[in-house]
Amino acid sequence: MEVVICESAEEIGRHVADVFAAVLRGPAPVIGLATGSSPLVAYQELIRRHREDGLSFAGTTAFLLDEYVGLPAGHPESYAAVIRRELTEHVDIDPADVHSPDGGAADLPAECARYDAAIGAAGGVHVQLLGIGTDGHIGFNEPMSSLSSRTRPKTLTQQTRDDNARFFGSVDEVPRHVLTQGLGTIGTARHLVMVATGTAKAEAVAAAVEGPLSARCPASILQWHQHATVFVDEAAASEL
Ligand code: GLP
Repeated sequence: MEVVICESAEEIGRHVADVFAAVLRGPAPVIGLATGSSPLVAYQELIRRHREDGLSFAGTTAFLLDEYVGLPAGHPESYAAVIRRELTEHVDIDPADVHSPDGGAADLPAECARYDAAIGAAGGVHVQLLGIGTDGHIGFNEPMSSLSSRTRPKTLTQQTRDDNARFFGSVDEVPRHVLTQGLGTIGTARHLVMVATGTAKAEAVAAAVEGPLSARCPASILQWHQHATVFVDEAAASEL
C-alpha cells in the first residue's frame, strides 16, 4: 500500500484525476465511483480536464459502490442521482453505462446478485475510488462486514446515519438499509484508491493503514490488496 500525504484537498483531487485519466486513456475503461464529500474535489478536477483538456469518458463503463434502499425514485440524495449531479452528467459518458444497485428493486438479494455479476461481466473494475467512514467503512460495509462479502443488503449503524444526516433534513430521514458492493467485490478491482481529509477521519485512516487487517475496520482490506493507494491530507494523516 502506498500512502501519499498531500498539502490540500485540491492536490488529492489532482492525484486521483491523474490515476483515473490513465485508465480512461486505455481500452474499454471500467471505473468504480464513490459518493460522499471526499471524492468531490477529484470529480471537479476530472470535469475540468474533460472541458479544458479534452479528457474523454466515451466508451467508459462505471459502477457505483452502493445505494440507499427505499428512497422514492428520483430522490436527490439517492446515490444514482448524486453521481449524475456531481460527475457523470458533466462528462461524455453514456448514461446507460453508469450502473448502480437498484435500491427500489422488489427482490433486493436478487438485485445484488445481478449487480455483482454485471461487474464481473464487464471484466472487473480497473480503478475503484473509495472514501472512508468515521468507523472505517468503505462503500457501506460497516465494521464486522465479512472480508469476502459480495454485493448485498446491509443495515447502517447509528454512527453512519448520524454522519450522513447532513445530506437529509434530519437523521430520521436517512434510510436504515442500503445495498453495497461487498469487501470481496471491492477487492476484485485492480487498483483501489482511497481518499480522506480532515481530523474526523484520522482515527479511521490510522486503523485502515496501520491497524490489523480486520473486519473491525473494513478499510483495512487495502493492506491485503496488491495495488492500493491512499491519498490523505495532513489532518487525516495526523494519527499515523
Ligand atoms: C458514505 C458512503 C461512503 C463514503 C462515506 C464517507 O457512507 N457510502 O462511500 O466513503 O460516506 O463520506 P464522506 O466522504 O462524505 O465523509
